[in-house]
Amino acid sequence: MKIIAIIGSPHGIHGNTGSLLEEVLDGVEAAGAETEVISLKTLNVQPCVACDACHKTGVCNIKDDYEKIKDKLLACDGFILASPNYIFSVSAQMKALFDRCNGLIHCMALEGKYAALVETSGGGGDEEVLAYMGRFVNTVGAKYVGGVGSPMAGTRVFPDEENLFESARNLGRELYTSIAKKRKFPEQDAFISDFKARMTGLVDYMQEQWVFEREFWAKRKSKK
Ligand SMILES: Cc1cc2nc3c(=O)[nH]c(=O)nc-3n(C[C@H](O)[C@H](O)[C@H](O)COP(=O)(O)O)c2cc1C
Repeated sequence: MKIIAIIGSPHGIHGNTGSLLEEVLDGVEAAGAETEVISLKTLNVQPCVACDACHKTGVCNIKDDYEKIKDKLLACDGFILASPNYIFSVSAQMKALFDRCNGLIHCMALEGKYAALVETSGGGGDEEVLAYMGRFVNTVGAKYVGGVGSPMAGTRVFPDEENLFESARNLGRELYTSIAKKRKFPEQDAFISDFKARMTGLVDYMQEQWVFEREFWAKRKSKK
Protein backbone atom coordinates (compact mmCIF):
# COMPACT_ATOMS: atom_id res chain seq x y z
CA MET A 1 0.00 0.00 0.00
CA LYS A 2 1.39 3.41 -1.00
CA ILE A 3 0.43 6.61 0.78
CA ILE A 4 1.73 10.01 -0.23
CA ALA A 5 1.74 13.06 2.03
CA ILE A 6 1.62 16.51 0.46
CA ILE A 7 2.74 19.30 2.75
CA GLY A 8 2.09 22.92 1.84
CA SER A 9 4.10 24.69 4.53
CA PRO A 10 6.95 27.00 3.54
CA HIS A 11 8.80 25.33 6.44
CA GLY A 12 8.47 21.97 4.72
CA ILE A 13 8.53 19.00 7.08
CA HIS A 14 10.52 20.98 9.68
CA GLY A 15 7.69 23.27 10.83
CA ASN A 16 4.66 22.77 13.07
CA THR A 17 2.53 21.13 10.38
CA GLY A 18 5.45 18.82 9.55
CA SER A 19 5.74 17.83 13.20
CA LEU A 20 2.08 16.78 13.34
CA LEU A 21 2.29 15.13 9.93
CA GLU A 22 5.25 13.03 11.13
CA GLU A 23 3.00 11.51 13.81
CA VAL A 24 0.33 10.63 11.23
CA LEU A 25 3.03 9.06 9.07
CA ASP A 26 4.26 7.05 12.07
CA GLY A 27 0.76 5.60 12.39
CA VAL A 28 0.53 4.81 8.69
CA GLU A 29 3.98 3.18 8.60
CA ALA A 30 3.42 1.21 11.82
CA ALA A 31 0.30 -0.25 10.17
CA GLY A 32 2.43 -1.38 7.22
CA ALA A 33 2.15 1.17 4.40
CA GLU A 34 4.94 2.67 2.35
CA THR A 35 4.97 6.48 2.52
CA GLU A 36 6.41 9.35 0.52
CA VAL A 37 6.45 13.00 1.54
CA ILE A 38 5.99 15.62 -1.18
CA SER A 39 6.96 19.03 0.13
CA LEU A 40 5.56 21.79 -2.07
CA LYS A 41 8.27 24.07 -0.70
CA THR A 42 10.88 22.23 -2.75
CA LEU A 43 8.74 22.02 -5.90
CA ASN A 44 7.50 24.46 -8.51
CA VAL A 45 3.70 24.50 -8.72
CA GLN A 46 2.54 27.69 -10.44
CA PRO A 47 -1.01 29.06 -10.10
CA CYS A 48 -3.61 27.84 -12.62
CA VAL A 49 -3.94 30.15 -15.64
CA ALA A 50 -7.46 28.90 -16.56
CA CYS A 51 -6.46 27.94 -20.11
CA ASP A 52 -8.73 24.82 -20.03
CA ALA A 53 -5.97 22.64 -21.58
CA CYS A 54 -6.49 19.97 -18.86
CA HIS A 55 -10.16 19.68 -19.83
CA LYS A 56 -9.32 19.33 -23.51
CA THR A 57 -6.18 17.16 -23.43
CA GLY A 58 -5.87 15.78 -19.89
CA VAL A 59 -2.48 17.46 -19.51
CA CYS A 60 -1.62 20.85 -18.04
CA ASN A 61 0.09 23.36 -20.33
CA ILE A 62 2.27 24.81 -17.57
CA LYS A 63 5.64 23.10 -17.54
CA ASP A 64 6.46 22.70 -13.86
CA ASP A 65 6.18 19.96 -11.21
CA TYR A 66 2.38 19.61 -11.24
CA GLU A 67 2.10 16.68 -13.65
CA LYS A 68 4.59 14.67 -11.51
CA ILE A 69 2.43 15.26 -8.42
CA LYS A 70 -0.71 14.40 -10.39
CA ASP A 71 0.82 11.08 -11.48
CA LYS A 72 1.69 10.27 -7.87
CA LEU A 73 -1.87 11.09 -6.77
CA LEU A 74 -3.27 8.85 -9.49
CA ALA A 75 -0.92 6.00 -8.56
CA CYS A 76 -1.25 6.06 -4.74
CA ASP A 77 -3.77 4.16 -2.59
CA GLY A 78 -4.22 7.08 -0.23
CA PHE A 79 -2.95 10.57 0.43
CA ILE A 80 -2.46 13.00 3.27
CA LEU A 81 -2.91 16.75 2.87
CA ALA A 82 -1.04 18.88 5.42
CA SER A 83 -1.22 22.66 5.54
CA PRO A 84 -0.76 25.49 8.01
CA ASN A 85 -3.78 27.70 8.58
CA TYR A 86 -3.32 30.86 6.53
CA ILE A 87 -6.26 33.24 7.09
CA PHE A 88 -8.75 30.43 7.76
CA SER A 89 -7.68 28.55 4.66
CA VAL A 90 -4.69 26.61 3.33
CA SER A 91 -1.31 28.10 2.39
CA ALA A 92 -0.90 29.61 -1.10
CA GLN A 93 1.35 26.67 -2.02
CA MET A 94 -1.45 24.20 -1.24
CA LYS A 95 -4.13 26.34 -2.87
CA ALA A 96 -2.08 26.56 -6.08
CA LEU A 97 -1.96 22.76 -6.14
CA PHE A 98 -5.73 22.49 -5.50
CA ASP A 99 -6.45 24.87 -8.39
CA ARG A 100 -4.12 22.98 -10.71
CA CYS A 101 -6.12 19.81 -9.90
CA ASN A 102 -9.09 21.27 -11.80
CA GLY A 103 -8.88 18.52 -14.41
CA LEU A 104 -8.81 15.82 -11.70
CA ILE A 105 -11.84 17.52 -10.14
CA HIS A 106 -13.89 17.56 -13.36
CA CYS A 107 -13.19 13.82 -13.74
CA MET A 108 -13.40 13.11 -9.98
CA ALA A 109 -10.37 11.07 -10.95
CA LEU A 110 -9.34 10.01 -7.43
CA GLU A 111 -12.56 8.07 -6.83
CA GLY A 112 -11.88 5.01 -4.67
CA LYS A 113 -8.95 6.60 -2.82
CA TYR A 114 -8.84 7.72 0.80
CA ALA A 115 -7.25 10.74 2.44
CA ALA A 116 -6.35 12.14 5.85
CA LEU A 117 -6.02 15.82 6.75
CA VAL A 118 -3.46 17.65 8.89
CA GLU A 119 -3.46 21.31 9.90
CA THR A 120 -1.78 23.60 12.41
CA SER A 121 -2.51 27.19 13.32
CA GLY A 122 -1.17 30.06 15.40
CA GLY A 123 -4.33 30.34 17.45
CA GLY A 124 -7.21 28.18 16.20
CA GLY A 125 -9.76 27.99 13.41
CA ASP A 126 -8.50 24.46 12.78
CA GLU A 127 -11.87 22.85 11.97
CA GLU A 128 -12.59 25.35 9.21
CA VAL A 129 -9.35 24.57 7.39
CA LEU A 130 -9.76 20.81 7.86
CA ALA A 131 -13.31 21.07 6.47
CA TYR A 132 -12.03 22.99 3.45
CA MET A 133 -9.39 20.35 2.71
CA GLY A 134 -12.05 17.67 3.17
CA ARG A 135 -14.21 19.43 0.60
CA PHE A 136 -11.30 19.36 -1.84
CA VAL A 137 -10.84 15.61 -1.23
CA ASN A 138 -14.50 14.98 -2.05
CA THR A 139 -14.35 17.08 -5.22
CA VAL A 140 -11.60 14.85 -6.61
CA GLY A 141 -13.90 11.92 -5.81
CA ALA A 142 -11.99 10.57 -2.79
CA LYS A 143 -13.14 10.12 0.83
CA TYR A 144 -11.45 11.57 3.91
CA VAL A 145 -11.14 9.35 6.95
CA GLY A 146 -10.63 12.26 9.35
CA GLY A 147 -8.38 15.13 10.24
CA VAL A 148 -6.14 16.36 12.99
CA GLY A 149 -5.49 20.03 13.70
CA SER A 150 -4.16 22.16 16.52
CA PRO A 151 -2.91 25.58 17.44
CA MET A 152 0.80 25.65 18.18
CA ALA A 153 2.39 26.50 21.51
CA GLY A 154 5.86 27.28 20.10
CA THR A 155 7.95 25.88 17.28
CA ARG A 156 6.96 22.23 16.86
CA VAL A 157 5.33 22.37 20.28
CA PHE A 158 1.60 21.95 20.92
CA PRO A 159 -0.71 22.24 23.92
CA ASP A 160 -1.77 18.80 25.14
CA GLU A 161 0.86 17.30 22.86
CA GLU A 162 0.64 13.74 24.12
CA ASN A 163 -3.06 13.41 23.29
CA LEU A 164 -2.68 15.33 20.03
CA PHE A 165 0.13 13.07 18.81
CA GLU A 166 -1.81 9.98 19.81
CA SER A 167 -4.80 11.23 17.77
CA ALA A 168 -2.44 11.87 14.86
CA ARG A 169 -1.00 8.33 15.00
CA ASN A 170 -4.54 6.92 15.27
CA LEU A 171 -5.51 8.92 12.19
CA GLY A 172 -2.60 7.32 10.31
CA ARG A 173 -3.76 3.85 11.36
CA GLU A 174 -7.34 4.76 10.40
CA LEU A 175 -6.19 5.77 6.93
CA TYR A 176 -4.44 2.44 6.49
CA THR A 177 -7.42 0.44 7.76
CA SER A 178 -9.94 2.39 5.69
CA ILE A 179 -7.96 1.62 2.53
CA ALA A 180 -7.44 -2.03 3.47
CA LYS A 181 -11.12 -2.56 4.31
CA LYS A 182 -12.57 -0.15 1.73
CA ARG A 183 -14.42 1.56 4.57
CA LYS A 184 -17.58 3.44 3.68
CA PHE A 185 -18.21 7.05 4.73
CA PRO A 186 -21.93 7.50 3.98
CA GLU A 187 -22.00 11.04 5.38
CA GLN A 188 -19.82 12.12 2.41
CA ASP A 189 -21.92 10.33 -0.22
CA ALA A 190 -24.59 13.04 -0.71
CA PHE A 191 -22.05 15.74 -1.49
CA ILE A 192 -20.06 13.44 -3.80
CA SER A 193 -23.16 12.31 -5.64
CA ASP A 194 -24.45 15.92 -6.12
CA PHE A 195 -21.00 17.01 -7.23
CA LYS A 196 -20.75 14.11 -9.69
CA ALA A 197 -24.09 15.16 -11.23
CA ARG A 198 -22.70 18.69 -11.55
CA MET A 199 -19.42 17.58 -13.15
CA THR A 200 -20.97 15.13 -15.60
CA GLY A 201 -23.57 17.77 -16.55
CA LEU A 202 -20.84 20.35 -17.11
CA VAL A 203 -18.65 18.02 -19.18
CA ASP A 204 -21.70 17.00 -21.17
CA TYR A 205 -22.54 20.63 -21.87
CA MET A 206 -18.94 21.38 -22.97
CA GLN A 207 -18.54 18.18 -24.93
CA GLU A 208 -17.39 19.72 -28.23
CA GLN A 209 -14.52 21.43 -26.44
CA TRP A 210 -13.56 19.30 -23.46
CA VAL A 211 -12.76 16.18 -25.44
CA PHE A 212 -10.50 14.51 -22.86
CA GLU A 213 -13.07 14.81 -20.06
CA ARG A 214 -15.93 13.69 -22.28
CA GLU A 215 -13.99 10.53 -23.19
CA PHE A 216 -12.90 9.98 -19.59
CA TRP A 217 -16.51 9.93 -18.31
CA ALA A 218 -17.70 7.83 -21.27
CA LYS A 219 -15.02 5.20 -20.50
CA ARG A 220 -15.87 5.20 -16.80
CA LYS A 221 -19.60 4.79 -17.49
CA SER A 222 -18.95 1.93 -19.93
CA LYS A 223 -16.87 0.08 -17.26
CA LYS A 224 -19.73 0.22 -14.72
C1 LIG B 1 0.77 34.22 6.11
C2 LIG B 1 0.34 33.57 7.41
C3 LIG B 1 -0.99 33.55 7.73
C4 LIG B 1 -1.42 32.96 8.91
N1 LIG B 1 -2.75 32.99 9.23
C5 LIG B 1 -3.17 32.44 10.37
C6 LIG B 1 -4.55 32.49 10.75
O1 LIG B 1 -5.38 33.04 10.04
N2 LIG B 1 -4.91 31.93 11.91
C7 LIG B 1 -4.01 31.30 12.74
O2 LIG B 1 -4.40 30.80 13.78
N3 LIG B 1 -2.70 31.23 12.42
C8 LIG B 1 -2.25 31.79 11.27
N4 LIG B 1 -0.92 31.71 10.93
C9 LIG B 1 0.00 30.94 11.80
C10 LIG B 1 0.30 29.56 11.24
O3 LIG B 1 -0.88 28.89 10.84
C11 LIG B 1 0.99 28.67 12.30
O4 LIG B 1 2.13 29.29 12.78
C12 LIG B 1 1.31 27.29 11.74
O5 LIG B 1 1.50 26.41 12.82
C13 LIG B 1 2.57 27.32 10.88
O6 LIG B 1 2.85 26.02 10.43
P1 LIG B 1 4.23 25.63 9.75
O7 LIG B 1 5.30 25.77 10.80
O8 LIG B 1 4.08 24.24 9.32
O9 LIG B 1 4.45 26.58 8.61
C14 LIG B 1 -0.47 32.34 9.78
C15 LIG B 1 0.89 32.36 9.42
C16 LIG B 1 1.30 32.99 8.27
C17 LIG B 1 2.77 33.01 7.91
